[in-house]
Amino acid sequence: MEFLFEFLFTPLSTSGLVFLFSLAAVALVHLNTRPKPLQPPTDLNRQTVGVAGGARKSALLKSDNLISYMYEDGKTLYEVFQRGLRVSGNGPCLGFRKKGQPYQWLKYKQVSDRAEFLGSGLIHRGQKPSQDTFIGIFAQNRPEWIIAELACYTYSMVAVPLYDTLGPEALVFIINRANISTVICDKKDKAETLLDNSEKKLTPLLKTIILMDSYDSALTERGSKIGLDVLSLKDVEALGKNNHHRPVPPKPEDLSIICFTSGTTGDPKGAMLTHENVVADAAGVVRTFESVFVPVPSDVSISFLPLAHMFERVVQTVLYGVGGRVGFFQGDIRLLPDDMKALQPTVFPVVPRLLNRVYDKVQSGAKTPFKKWLLNFAIEKKCAEVKQGIIRNDSMWDKLIFHKVQESLGGRVRVMVTGAAPISPSVLTFLRACLGCQIFEAYGQTECTAACSFTIPGDWKTGHVGAPIPCNTIKLVDVEEMDYFASNGEGEICVKGTNVFRGYLGDPEKTAEALDKDGWLHTGDIGKWLPSGVLKIIDRKKNIFKLAQGEYIAPEKIENVYIRSAPVAQVFVHGESLQSSLVAIVVPDPEVLPGFAEKLGLKGSLEELCRNQELKKAIISDLNKLGREAGLKSFEQVKDLYLHPDMFTIENGLLTPTLKAKRADLTKYFRVQIESLYANM
Ligand SMILES: *[C@@H]1O[C@H](CO)[C@@H](O)[C@H](O)[C@H]1NC(C)=O
Ligand SMILES: *[C@@H]1O[C@H](CO)[C@@H](O)[C@H](O)[C@H]1NC(C)=O
Repeated sequence: MEFLFEFLFTPLSTSGLVFLFSLAAVALVHLNTRPKPLQPPTDLNRQTVGVAGGARKSALLKSDNLISYMYEDGKTLYEVFQRGLRVSGNGPCLGFRKKGQPYQWLKYKQVSDRAEFLGSGLIHRGQKPSQDTFIGIFAQNRPEWIIAELACYTYSMVAVPLYDTLGPEALVFIINRANISTVICDKKDKAETLLDNSEKKLTPLLKTIILMDSYDSALTERGSKIGLDVLSLKDVEALGKNNHHRPVPPKPEDLSIICFTSGTTGDPKGAMLTHENVVADAAGVVRTFESVFVPVPSDVSISFLPLAHMFERVVQTVLYGVGGRVGFFQGDIRLLPDDMKALQPTVFPVVPRLLNRVYDKVQSGAKTPFKKWLLNFAIEKKCAEVKQGIIRNDSMWDKLIFHKVQESLGGRVRVMVTGAAPISPSVLTFLRACLGCQIFEAYGQTECTAACSFTIPGDWKTGHVGAPIPCNTIKLVDVEEMDYFASNGEGEICVKGTNVFRGYLGDPEKTAEALDKDGWLHTGDIGKWLPSGVLKIIDRKKNIFKLAQGEYIAPEKIENVYIRSAPVAQVFVHGESLQSSLVAIVVPDPEVLPGFAEKLGLKGSLEELCRNQELKKAIISDLNKLGREAGLKSFEQVKDLYLHPDMFTIENGLLTPTLKAKRADLTKYFRVQIESLYANM
């Protein structure tokens, strides 16, 4: 999905008037008054309380106890929503729009009522209001997704998101693993996929499909032939309205959601998350940023990152807890800039790929040497402020240069949170300066709900993922075979706390691999404590192999460096124990490559460029330069690569549904190319 972020941000202003103003700005800069800097935290390391086994907890904890909620009256996701209804005075809750139209809003009470009706309808049709009931939700982000989820929570049932992008086998696997008899889906084609599976007798337990969109009677007939009811969401809500059941609210320790993540091999794993897990993670995040950002009912978030991922779920939990609003994108990522302008979000959850796009657009907007100079000058000035802890969007530079890019995000963004993948430090600093809003970086994984560490306000240094959040402790554990030792402040990152999951549904073996007997989640990431008390991700425990001379290679670490190269959209680094060096498969960015080639005097179609040896050499040298800057050892640098014009995708089987490289499949797929790279060395 990350590869879809084709953004069309307005480049920098080009008019002569702005040129003149800009000159004036240089003269006026000394008159520009500056707000007081936010004090960076005093030594986090000293504040961060050490606990048994070298673990650290958040410096922000007021007592020794990890927090598990933010509000007394919001300890489950059901209560969080009811709280939002109260504190907003039944304000607007879920927003949606049709192309070219303004946002329309469902109010909190409407959402809560519809969830009760839907839940009652499900119960009337035979679902038990209990933890034994798993309801599938198979839809893109939209208000009905939240209504369906809340219907589950209102009656202590468990929601199971089914991804858009899950392959057909994974879909069948999940439905069977969770004994799902009802799936609520958005569109006809998803219902058809489910019917296909049922006709092949792959999902014998599935009995009901509920559709959000309209559909024709052919679908109903197809279903009835195999004893499967196809109903509309409206009809089930109406059924529940006439057969109303009193809510059966869950307890904090009850399961709320099963979030299936797919590994690089094998079946998907269903992370079991309780109400407490999700509420605690949201509370940990809110506690962490509350010194600079306290969310209020007028806050609006834009929802476009997949709701099936916990990152987006946690952002929304934060907003519902304070009676805030969530506006959904139209469902087409290419229209996101338009949705941003219509919604004017104040909270913007993002992924690094998107931030890289914004960065590139701003950079490439400065076309003449003077504009480049001016942009650099302005960035330098604002970066200096950022380093002092001043984050603002009302300086001279913002008014003259950065307002356009700020307005392209709607013009009201107060907070951005990035997660899900590493972001380059220079991009992060640049954007903090030019967007003039708080940008936090979160690190974590589904097994600890979403975040386990988070940027501490005032600490705008980059190259780390912040400090533990107040709902968990983090410790580092020795990884001897890779020479990481906790005594040196390095090791595998392990997490324990109120946000840590209960294991994988029906999979005690994989659960035991992830959760040890003392309740520590082993993340597989290698971290290092920096002197200030923040955590830096330095390596990955899994996917490690040795080269011929016995050097250990963690290819993902190398890929994370190489992906910063402008002409590179995707990169897969490969090595073998019989070879002494690394090679890579690189998919160039089709938008950037032509420009990159032109600088070398090269032209041609993407396919032609991919075959060009000179271009290939230029890319290798760019990668190696980035590698040197990032401190890669010489054996960690690729010696040769193959340029492949087509993206790795979920559809072609080269990415997992969570967009991780399927390493074994990539190796198989590119066997011939890899062999010829080694043969020519
Ligand atoms: C699904 O049903 C089987 C058979 O009744 C049962 O053993 C299993 O625990 C159920 N799984 C879930 C997730 O409820
Ligand atoms: C600038 O920041 C303030 C406070 O965070 C916010 O209210 C305002 O909308 C922002 N303006 C732009 C153009 O982003």
